[in-house]
Amino acid sequence: MPYICVKMISMEVVSFIAKKQSPMLGKSVAWRSPSNIALVKYWGKYAPQMPANPSLSFTLDNCNTKTTVCLRDMDTINQTSLGNFSFDFSFEGAPKPDFHLKILAFFERVVAYLPFLKQYHFSILSENTFPHSSGIASSASAMAALSLCLLELSGEFLDYSEAFKAKASFLARLGSGSAARSIQGPLMQWGKTDSVPHSEDLIAIVFKENVAAVFSSYQDTILLVEKGAKAVSSTVGHGLMENHPYAAARFNQAHNQIAVLSQALKTGDIDTFMHIVEQEALTLHAMMLTSSPSFILMKPATLAIIERVWTYRAATKVPLCFTLDAGANVHLLYPEKHKEEVLQFIENELVVYCENAQYICDSVGAGSVSVSI
Ligand code: PMV
Repeated sequence: MPYICVKMISMEVVSFIAKKQSPMLGKSVAWRSPSNIALVKYWGKYAPQMPANPSLSFTLDNCNTKTTVCLRDMDTINQTSLGNFSFDFSFEGAPKPDFHLKILAFFERVVAYLPFLKQYHFSILSENTFPHSSGIASSASAMAALSLCLLELSGEFLDYSEAFKAKASFLARLGSGSAARSIQGPLMQWGKTDSVPHSEDLIAIVFKENVAAVFSSYQDTILLVEKGAKAVSSTVGHGLMENHPYAAARFNQAHNQIAVLSQALKTGDIDTFMHIVEQEALTLHAMMLTSSPSFILMKPATLAIIERVWTYRAATKVPLCFTLDAGANVHLLYPEKHKEEVLQFIENELVVYCENAQYICDSVGAGSVSVSI
């Protein structure tokens, strides 16, 4: 079915410019934000961090980042500022200057929407529940948690209203595109597309259709094939979609995949769900294989796992499917009622492909939460 672009009335950037901020000087706030796994992949963007195609994701639960931010007066700080901003950053208890440039770039992108960033000092502490350098993208959870902390400290909103969550998603998107989908859960959609009412490029929204019960407790077991930093960053990968020979077809396909997947989510059609999800994973990597220059993020173990999953599914009829992020790790998705047998299969046949036999058991989650401190 060809995708037909219908002009829709969309949200405007100006609606996110702060109306009135009452910064909470001397206060600390904390948020816990989960990672997410895309079912339909965002791959390709244009400035400022706008998606070239729509995406749809499961919000995760166990894999998350907790960030605490304290708002302090500049005068109380004996610290050189970075550019127009003043902050310090610690990760898992130790100062982490490697992250300063990322935070600085983020502050520069969002200062128009959080003007108080220029007037105060920010002490930022962050920690992840998943192993550091496990190859799991932490930018989504980290940028979501940081955005929520800053927005709360700005005092622009009196409560965690829908407007607060929308602005948090808007800010998180400017940090890392997929972070826009980590504010809420369990299913998030980002990027304007005809089949999803109220879909937007500026923010991710909760996929509000009546989703079949089976998907509300879906499992994601992440097989850690290769830990450590990826050879090619997502930023470079997105950039290679510009002038990519298959870009137009891919972007078009993503709209259609969302339409078909939405139906499958509503009707509980797991076969269609698995078909779309696997096709999306392989298409994402096909885009990498065919970009110029091309690159390969899958490893031999990634392919071996995929083959084992297909053989297992054919033999047992257990509805187990895989998806991939921009890396070698494999996410195994399946209904909760098959947890025991799938974990047994992983132990028996797949753990040999994981670095240090490591995998992480996660499931669909509800989104970010404020943490009292
Ligand atoms: O948010 P970024 O820039 O790290 O891009 C994420 C891209 C994928 O993880 C490959 C797909 C997605 O939709 O999350």
